[in-house]
Amino acid sequence: MKVGIVGTGYVGLVTGAMFSTIDHNVICIDSDNGKIEKLASGNPIIFEQNLGDILNKALLNKQIAFSSEYHDLRDCEAVLICVGTPPSEDGSADLSYVKNAVLEAAKNINSSTLIIIKSTVPPGTCKEMQRLLQENGYEHKIASNPEFLREGSAVFDFQNPDRLVFGTSSDIDTQILRGIYQSQINKKIPTVETDTTTSEMIKYTSNSFLAIKLSFINEMANLCEYVDADIDALSKGVGLDKRIGELFLKAGPGYGGSCFPKDTSALSQLAASYNCRSEILDSAISSNIARYSMMSDKIKNILGERRDVAILGIAFKGNTDDVRKSPSIEIIKLLLQDGFRITVFDPVALDNFKSLNIEDVSIADSVEQASENKDAIIILTEWHEFAEINWNKISGLVRGKILIDLRKITDENAAKTAGFEYYTIGKKYSNNGA
Ligand code: UGA
Repeated sequence: MKVGIVGTGYVGLVTGAMFSTIDHNVICIDSDNGKIEKLASGNPIIFEQNLGDILNKALLNKQIAFSSEYHDLRDCEAVLICVGTPPSEDGSADLSYVKNAVLEAAKNINSSTLIIIKSTVPPGTCKEMQRLLQENGYEHKIASNPEFLREGSAVFDFQNPDRLVFGTSSDIDTQILRGIYQSQINKKIPTVETDTTTSEMIKYTSNSFLAIKLSFINEMANLCEYVDADIDALSKGVGLDKRIGELFLKAGPGYGGSCFPKDTSALSQLAASYNCRSEILDSAISSNIARYSMMSDKIKNILGERRDVAILGIAFKGNTDDVRKSPSIEIIKLLLQDGFRITVFDPVALDNFKSLNIEDVSIADSVEQASENKDAIIILTEWHEFAEINWNKISGLVRGKILIDLRKITDENAAKTAGFEYYTIGKKYSNNGA
């Protein structure tokens, strides 16, 4: 099947590359010429496991092409809209890129070609786009097909989805979506076929539910510190209940990334616009925002007057170079306000960090370089390589042997054996009871 993708951001690029692995011919459109050139030469732009190999194989087999011209969509049987929906000032989703992409695509494709919205959009958007098309004299049909890929494991998630969601307004449109995903349907992946608005709502509710789960477990981690319980055992004990599930129960410095903060506030804003507020969702959002200052206060309490710190981890989570709404950056900004002198290191996200132009932060090339003469080491992203740090080696470089691991990735015993005081979240500290 020939499938078009509009927007080669994270969602569009991964979806396009992965479609090539299930025998579709894919044309990806983006208005950014520089990006198109890089992608066409096999540079995947984003850091995503295995994506580079998949992209290069697809280019070699001529199963994927890149263009900045919408008319290259002309013979596609379906076009997926994967452009951004950034937050507006009031927190609602800005749909201007989606509108533009839908109209530009419609202008260049047959009226029988289905336009599928994969971008995360508020419930009702497909219907709004359907009206927009009609008002502009187009007959194309619009469908919804949200994505549930996680950054850092998107290739795996595409190959092993929990479910597929098809939101359409007719059986014919559903058949087209089934055709696109036939190989996954053959693998007996559960499929939810519904109307477009419910499909859009499934996406928002899924991300919001996970965000609520995280805010709740983070608050329970706080309580663990008071009652002298252990959050890791608690998460395990609670998560083994199948009704709750063990994923997304790892307490941390707050959730971040390009999706949860944006989608939760868009859903909250949407609910408020109907005077139908979700108090639970609103609390999860404010709990997460408060968490950043709670984490910076925790650091200050541990360190007293000491101000020279190494921050390990900038990305919003491990296995990605994405720094958007990263808890690490939110916490760094708060620490800077308190006069901290910070050196950062991240295995892959430093270039993205540099582009933010945050002043007064030094950048190191390695964990060792970041640690030199520091009062403390603070871990803010769960990179696997931080689990393997040789604390004996680091202890010879630092000024103060304090390790604050807000991601619970390091080996507590190894750090303590090397002489470090160890602090984390969700448990009392045995080194000095701070
Ligand atoms: C999220 C969803 O998980 C995907 O299903 C969805 O497709 C995607 O948003 C999207 O809407 O595009 P992603 O933003 O890549 O994916 O990141 P997650 O893995 O969900 O993590 C989000 C945040 O929660 C991160 O800051 C992460 O560190 C944090 N987190 C996650 C925890 O603190 N603890 C956990 O147990 C899990």
